[in-house]
Amino acid sequence: MPADDLFAAATAARANAYAPYSDYPVGAALRGADGRVYAAANVENAAYPQGQCAEASAIGMMVTAGERRIVEALVVAAGQHIPTPCGGCRQRLREFMALDAPLHLAGPEGIRRTTTLGELLPLSFGPEHLGKAGPR
Ligand code: THU
Repeated sequence: MPADDLFAAATAARANAYAPYSDYPVGAALRGADGRVYAAANVENAAYPQGQCAEASAIGMMVTAGERRIVEALVVAAGQHIPTPCGGCRQRLREFMALDAPLHLAGPEGIRRTTTLGELLPLSFGPEHLGKAGPR
C-alpha cells in the first residue's frame, strides 16, 4: 500500500484518540517536506465546541517542530462512510498543503480513496489572497 508509514502512524494515533462523546476516533498523519511524519488523534471535551480534530492536532505538532509544508496526508476512521476532513480542517490543511498533493482517506482496513485539497476545497481562499507565498 502506498503511504504505508502514514497509515501506520495515523492508526497508532487513532488508538489514543479521546472521543468519548462521538465514539468516532480519528487519526491523522502528515508528511512534512523534511520527510518527517506528524500524527495525532482527535481530542474531545465535555464542553463540546472545545474538542479538537485529529488534523488540527497534527498540524500543531508539525508547525511546532518547525515544518511549514505538508507534501502528503492521511486521515483514518471507521464506519461505512469514507472519513473525509471536516470543512474547518480542509481550510487548516490549505494553509500548508498544495492543492494537488495526495490526501488519503482510510478506513481501519487501509486506504479507501486518494484525493486532493483542490477537489475537497474548490475555489479556496488561502495565503496567496493576502499576498503570501502559500503552500507549494
Ligand atoms: N473529526 C476529526 O478529528 N477530523 C475530521 O476531519 C472530522 C471529525 C472528529 C471531531 C470529533 O471528535 C469527531 O471526529 C466527531 O465529529
